[in-house]
Amino acid sequence: MRPPGDKSISHRVLMLAALARGRSELAGLLTGADVKSSARVLRQLGVDVSTIRDGATVHVTGKRLTPPAARLHCGNSGTTARLMLGILAGQKFPATLTGDASLRRRPMRRVTEPLRQMGADINEERDGLPLTIRGGKLHGLTYASPVASAQVKSAILFAGLTGRVPVTIREPYRSRDHTERLLAHLGLCIHERNRAIVFEPSALSNIPSFQLSVPGDPSSAAFLVAAAILADEGELVIQNVGVNPTRTGFLVVLERMGAHVDRVNLRDEGGEPVADLVVRPAGLKGTEVSAAEIPTLVDEVPVLAVLASRARGSTAFREVGELRVKESNRLELIAANLRAVGVKAEVQGNDLHVEGTERAPRGKIETATDHRLAMAFAVLGTLPGADVRLSEKKSVGISYPNFFRDLKQCFAS
Ligand code: S3P
Repeated sequence: MRPPGDKSISHRVLMLAALARGRSELAGLLTGADVKSSARVLRQLGVDVSTIRDGATVHVTGKRLTPPAARLHCGNSGTTARLMLGILAGQKFPATLTGDASLRRRPMRRVTEPLRQMGADINEERDGLPLTIRGGKLHGLTYASPVASAQVKSAILFAGLTGRVPVTIREPYRSRDHTERLLAHLGLCIHERNRAIVFEPSALSNIPSFQLSVPGDPSSAAFLVAAAILADEGELVIQNVGVNPTRTGFLVVLERMGAHVDRVNLRDEGGEPVADLVVRPAGLKGTEVSAAEIPTLVDEVPVLAVLASRARGSTAFREVGELRVKESNRLELIAANLRAVGVKAEVQGNDLHVEGTERAPRGKIETATDHRLAMAFAVLGTLPGADVRLSEKKSVGISYPNFFRDLKQCFAS
């Protein structure tokens, strides 16, 4: 199998190519709806982005951004909204961002607060979209983020880049570092000092246009890995998966639970480590997932919780309160949906507890149109004797349009 392009990296390379001078060539971009939201917003700002479709190299011709004629609709994509806020903070025109009902419920103050401290003028009625930002002359910022969020960190880095001011960011735990790696890969001055990220864009440095191949998304591969672990027999090879250590907490936890995933053919792609994964069925035992591990597997909690429901003993996920503000209230919905299929699961404070069982899962799943809930519970439905009915399936188009085809293919032989 080959998972689709990495969602986080796809957003970032589109945005950086839009800010670069000249024409960039991007291969392997995710064709999911979230990345198309970023492309659409960039086009509204005057950037030339060719059509994003399977197998196509996408061309982006960077230029000075121009005022949009209408509101910038970010769809379901938190990454589009938050990272674009960083980019817009460095522009001299106003822009209004909005999104679908799920995105409008998600907090934005975690980003608008530091951007305001940098000098952006932001008009928001409450903590969320729609909101209007007018950027302009920014000043540098040293910021200790209260949340370990790559979206917050990246918004500040993009504001530093477009406003050409230095920024220093500290996080409670290290979140995914794709933005830092890309900026370094493009020759910009970014480094780590005393466990903080320090970015000092020079007034003169322009981003050169670039060619880049986006690795496969480990968060999408995680569903295939889980299906292979739960299978009765066989071996699954998943090619071209990003194995950046800020994203592979899932594999670390699986190892502890008793499933070893081999990484072969290790290589580098645009400053990111990439490998092929080899997965075999395994019996699992419960574990404790610590607060420090959460940022490295934040999007994999739904599928890990599904695996925990098949493990011997219980599993605790510590400090996963952030899951309440993802595409849905994932924390409550993971627990409620596990209970709906006969698993003991509960939320205590900000922790999630799952009790393993051998009983075949049977029941109806409310996905709340959250792609990762749909995919996690679809994997549970591959168990012998399972009868798992999803409230909808099309949300998978957000991050993994061919998910159901690929899942079926895993069991085809
Ligand atoms: C992302 C960061 C994570 C993750 C999201 C994508 C990114 O969110 O959940 O799917 O591309 O930066 P937070 O940074 O808010 O934790």
